[in-house]
Order: sequence, then structure tokens, then C-alpha cells
Amino acid sequence: MRAAVTAFCAWLELTPFSRQLQTREWVVPAVQTVHLLAIAAVMGAMLLFNLRLLGLRGTDAPLARVSRRFLPVIWASVLVLLVSGAVMIAAEPARSLLSPAFQLKMVLLLAALALTAATGRPLRHSPDYWGTSRLRGRVARVFGTASIGLWVAILCAGRWIAYMGVR
Ligand code: HEM
Repeated sequence: MRAAVTAFCAWLELTPFSRQLQTREWVVPAVQTVHLLAIAAVMGAMLLFNLRLLGLRGTDAPLARVSRRFLPVIWASVLVLLVSGAVMIAAEPARSLLSPAFQLKMVLLLAALALTAATGRPLRHSPDYWGTSRLRGRVARVFGTASIGLWVAILCAGRWIAYMGVR
């Protein structure tokens, strides 16, 4: 598996697109800035949604309305992160694809996205879904806490890529 990823990185960094990115020094910092702005948007929306889920903030608005307001921001920001992240990978493939910190970040991201979907989806059909029983209330608190933890861990893993290096 590692050999295949290494071969893919070697192929990718010789493609004309990657070569262009390597020779234009302003592109990666510009794309990093977009990545950072999208991180701010996703973390802000994620926190406001999960704090409402936990009943700690914004309790004057129904959860379903908070979900309709913030979940689209999360999905749109993740799309921007995906595109900007892909450009950074194309510029320096081995730096991230072979980094355990990057691999961990992707696994955590999948878990965070699954949790976000599992929390938001039931609200579309039943706006009071998480408030209809004590068990659901408890599950919602576990989901909200786990989600905040996962997104913070993704943030740390993302920053860690630059320091961990390739193993
Ligand atoms: C959606 C897919 C994503 C991809 C493909 C991706 C990819 C990348 C890449 C390639 C880097 C550059 C690492 C380096 O060379 O040092 C990076 C940096 C980073 N990413 Fe992501 N990322 C994604 C999503 C996210 C998310 C959801 C977060 C956090 C909520 C995040 C947080 C970070 C952070 C904090 C950095 C370091 C920025 C810096 O030091 O300038 N990323 N990402």
C-alpha cells in the first residue's frame, strides 16, 4: 500500500499541474490562506451548532432552525477545504499523503462528517427529534461532545503535518 502511494506521489509531482504549482511561489500560500479561512468557517459553524445541541448556547432558537442555518456552512466549507487541500497535495504530494498526521486527519474527518450527518439528518423530518426522549437527549449530548472533540483533533492533526514529516 505504502509503495503504491509513494509511486502515486512520484507520478503526481511530475504532472504539468504539479510543476506549475511548484514554480509559482505565490499559489501555495494563497491556497493555504483559503484553507485557513474555510477552517475558521467550519469551526465556527460546528461550534455554534454543537453548543446548541448540548443546550449550552442559543437555546432561544429551535435546534432544527440552528441546524438549517449552520450545517450548510459546514458542508460548503468542507468542499472548499477539499479543493484547497487537493491543490496543496498536488504541489507537494509526499509531504501530506505519506504523513501519518495527514492520514489520521482524513480518518478523523470521515468520522466527524458521519457524526454531523447522523445528528443533522433526523432533524429534517422531525424537528424535535433529539428532544423526544431522555435517551435521545443523552445521545445528542454524546454526539455534540464527540463532534467538538473530533473537529479540534482534525485541526491539531492538520497543523501537525508540517512538524511530523514523512514516516
Ligand atoms: C477536506 C479535506 C482536507 C484536505 C484534503 C486537507 C489537506 C491539507 C493539506 C495538504 C495541508 C498542508 C499540510 C502541510 O503541508 O503542512 C493542510 C493543512 C492544514 N489543514 Fe487541511 N485538509 C482538509 C480539511 C481540513 C479540515 C476539515 C481542517 C480543520 C477543521 C483542516 C485543518 C488544517 C490545518 C490547521 C492545516 C495547517 C495549516 C497551516 O499550517 O498553514 N484541514 N490540509
